[in-house]
Amino acid sequence: MTKEPKLKITPAKGRPMLNWVGKKPLDYVKGFPAQLVEVFDPTRKMSLRGEAEAISYNELKDNWHNLLFHGDNKDVLATLLELGFRGKIDLIYIDPPFKSGADYVRKVELRGLKNLGQIQEDEASVLQQTMYFDIWNNDTYLQFMFERLMLLKELLAETGSIYVHLDWHVGHYIKLLIDEVFGPDNFRNEIVWCYTGPRKTPKAFSRKHDIILFYSKADQYTFNQLAIPHKSGLHDTGQVETFGTLREKRISEDQIKEIKILEERGKILEDWWIDIWATERYRKEFLGFATQKPEALLERIIKASSNEGDLVLDCFIGSGTTLAVAQKLDRRWIGCDINKGAIQVTSKRLQKIILKKIEKRDSSASPQNDRIYPTFAIYKVNDYDLKLLQTEAIELAVQHIGIQRTRTDRFFDGYLGKNLVKIIDFNHPLTLLDLQLFQDELKKRPDEDRDITIVCLGKELAVDPWIDEWNKKHPVNKIKVIELKTDKKYGSFLIHKPAETKVKILRSAQNDKKAIIEIKDFISPTIIERFNIDNKLFKVKIPDFRSMIDTVLIDTNYDGNTFHIVYSDVPEKKNDLVKGKYEIEIPKKKIKIAVKIIDMLGEEVMNVFEVE
Ligand SMILES: C[S@@+](CC[C@H](N)C(=O)[O-])C[C@H]1O[C@@H](n2cnc3c(N)ncnc32)[C@H](O)[C@@H]1O
Repeated sequence: MTKEPKLKITPAKGRPMLNWVGKKPLDYVKGFPAQLVEVFDPTRKMSLRGEAEAISYNELKDNWHNLLFHGDNKDVLATLLELGFRGKIDLIYIDPPFKSGADYVRKVELRGLKNLGQIQEDEASVLQQTMYFDIWNNDTYLQFMFERLMLLKELLAETGSIYVHLDWHVGHYIKLLIDEVFGPDNFRNEIVWCYTGPRKTPKAFSRKHDIILFYSKADQYTFNQLAIPHKSGLHDTGQVETFGTLREKRISEDQIKEIKILEERGKILEDWWIDIWATERYRKEFLGFATQKPEALLERIIKASSNEGDLVLDCFIGSGTTLAVAQKLDRRWIGCDINKGAIQVTSKRLQKIILKKIEKRDSSASPQNDRIYPTFAIYKVNDYDLKLLQTEAIELAVQHIGIQRTRTDRFFDGYLGKNLVKIIDFNHPLTLLDLQLFQDELKKRPDEDRDITIVCLGKELAVDPWIDEWNKKHPVNKIKVIELKTDKKYGSFLIHKPAETKVKILRSAQNDKKAIIEIKDFISPTIIERFNIDNKLFKVKIPDFRSMIDTVLIDTNYDGNTFHIVYSDVPEKKNDLVKGKYEIEIPKKKIKIAVKIIDMLGEEVMNVFEVE
């Protein structure tokens, strides 16, 4: 009998680690100045006039105001570290982009058109605004998440927890990343949140759940057992009850008793949640964000893993659900988003909640209601307005040129007639390096016989001779460039016409402590332009200029630097118009009044007036 050969298998070793091209640890980071841009301080408790930048944790902790950052969260988290927030965050919830290949779109509706009988079709008053492009290549995505997770770990308190909201796209990768960053021993739960809705997956079971990974920083962490009513079945309640705090991981006699009592009063929550609907079903709270999460979901997480006064952080806020719930539950919060629209929606959402809370507190004699944090400040870290304009500009270009977008091709962005189209990011000109990438891609597709159109904002000088040469050598795959900066036919939309407004301000003749502020007119060329492209057959006539206005903010004593929201007109319902005329108390001296108007696309115009 011949001897069987021995096949050597190398033993597995080390903890699970995911590798990708370009993986590198984050050894050090740099903080950035966080410039104060807006303050909401209805009780006027904050003494921030004169401060132009974010202040340190130590200065803030005894006179707290919540923080909303507009910027890339890598920069913002680094800035927080620099400001002394290391180990100060009690709870982190993040709901990052999923790498799902979709553009996230927020529906923007003009106000009041339905009421005015101008619009028959629902669709006609709705614009689709591209909020961010969620198309990433895997390596970049993993490095992006790895860096954020490492920074978040530094900020998390020793007793703190992190919840990462994901779905089937990248959930399995990110779990390995969190294991690597936080340690697999700190894994607590993989929560499965099931929602239901229209069937979308052909030839597979409908994908109707998200996963939320829950890790703690260490062994001892804040955790409040929660229970839901026994009868609670599928999607019929979001109510939870909290029962005490278990800071210990090991279960003591007392805790066993507590759990028994809990079981009598309700069903202790398990790691699969089927009683919370998708956000669209909660009509009152739905703000039109495709990825918006329900408040009931965040309520559960925040109640379970934090206590009143604790500090909650979300650095991918979107419509601001985490912050809204944190505010309602009397937690302190820090939020961040790269998208200006997200910051505006969140700011508006929180202003409403805070004003309601103050009203409730003032009308109630109970001192228990006293612990609210009524003030927040908005800071800008680096300038991301440009980024918003870029996504908008790309979208406009696509529509102007008539490009048909594709989601299925990993390299090309769409088609124009028979040509393949590639759009070069508007933050850099077309370079030889980009062309090299084309060449590499085409090598992988020997059967490709279509020509190529490249759309770019500008191009480097060396590009033209390269393309001439290429076109001479290649009878197929000829390259044509549309350079928007110089293109007469397609480039006109790039000339950005800012919104304009006419505002009248007077000190009241009857009462010299009051000003009468009236918006006489407002026009946003971008909104009109967008409507005329979106509804080619339907040229909108907007009968009331206020349809284009989302929010009016007024600072009655503008210091020339930071806008203090003294008065805000944020209509409750989507279909209500802003008032447009205001009588507001002002100081009895010579002052500057600033009026900021935010239109339905998130663009801001500010006018400043001197009042004697
Ligand atoms: C899935 S949404 C969050 C939705 C949110 N949970 C809600 O309930 O509305 C992800 C958000 O992350 C933001 N985002 C993406 N990349 C970012 C970055 N580098 N820094 C900050 N925010 C970012 C996007 O602008 C988007 O608003």
